[in-house]
Amino acid sequence: MNKQSVKDLEAQGKRVLVRVDFNVPVKDGEVTDDTRIRRALPTIQHLLSEGARPALISHLGRPKGEPDPKYAMDPVAKRLEELLGGPVTKLDTAAGPEVGNALDELDGGVVLLENSRFYPGETKNDAGFAGELAEPFDLYVNDAFGAAHRAHATTVGVAERLPSAAGLLMEAEIDYLDGVLSDPGRPFVAILGGAKVSDKLGVIESLLGVADSLLIGGAMCFTFFKARGYEIGDSLVEDDYLEEAKRLMDEAGERLVLPVDVVVADAMEEGAETQTVPVDSIPAGKMGLDIGPESVEDFRGKISGARTIFWNGPMGVFEIDAFARGTEGVAGAVAQASGGGATSVIGGGDSVAAVNKLGLDDQMSHISTGGGASLEYVEGKELPGVAVLPER
Ligand code: 3PG
Repeated sequence: MNKQSVKDLEAQGKRVLVRVDFNVPVKDGEVTDDTRIRRALPTIQHLLSEGARPALISHLGRPKGEPDPKYAMDPVAKRLEELLGGPVTKLDTAAGPEVGNALDELDGGVVLLENSRFYPGETKNDAGFAGELAEPFDLYVNDAFGAAHRAHATTVGVAERLPSAAGLLMEAEIDYLDGVLSDPGRPFVAILGGAKVSDKLGVIESLLGVADSLLIGGAMCFTFFKARGYEIGDSLVEDDYLEEAKRLMDEAGERLVLPVDVVVADAMEEGAETQTVPVDSIPAGKMGLDIGPESVEDFRGKISGARTIFWNGPMGVFEIDAFARGTEGVAGAVAQASGGGATSVIGGGDSVAAVNKLGLDDQMSHISTGGGASLEYVEGKELPGVAVLPER
């Protein structure tokens, strides 16, 4: 990454505002998946080892620009303290004199500020709010890759007001994605799933520009199948995207690989009666909910020969056991290929949940902490939170 790094900063004794993405799931006051907190630890620990005084800021959920106890950062503070093994001073504010006072009193620990989205100025990137946030600090570090596609006060406004740098997680995220996009070991196999072609159109175009094969699973297949003229029963389809799907298939030729069979059922529910059928023979009244075993074998074969793999989106409704085989098969193949030396990047969102559920997370080269951010990056869009950081 050619941006200024936290490692380039003279942080000794400095007050450092660190934007992290601690937008984590919380249930009954407990963080239920602490991945994003753990992934921010190297930057926090680096700053502490340099003798800096760090204050962390993040959004959590989508409160409406005012305090909402449901989205307070207290559960995050508790988990952070456990993971860090050191004191976390949680404030009920993100700006104002209390912040400077808490920084003065720090003695080897960190401050955690309140949810940035409790303030209307955050999502508007309001200049006044950004100024208030920046006021008590000497330096700014952005380690929130997951929020880098948002042009908010904590991702852009403060970076314009303080000497800034990228955190270690931000650097790793960008380096892995850049590696995939600009200099992939070949063959490069990309795998996309998910419900809608419309959500992934830019990503499909971008990946077709660089990948040797693009394997497509998930409900978005059915838009391609309908565009081919197949009956798709009650499967999910985007009729407005049939022309686009046809164009993509024509342009990509054999590089765009679709399933050859699918698992269908009457209903998307546990215990539904399932049937595996060729993709051109989906019975009326049935909906496709997973890729079939022949497709899994085909996809696994392609993945096993890859040197670079990018995967985003499940192959079926993996939360329901009967429709999880496709996603499991792909996840297993990606893990195996990674063990054999391939570079695998899992691009956020549901595919990460699937990999975690299968306990394969530590076998992948890189799991992105950004869902929307990683897709926008792969699409070739500039991420405002990255763009604003100074070059090296
Ligand atoms: C995410 O979870 O994708 C990021 O934290 C961004 O959250 P947002 O979509 O609410 O901006």
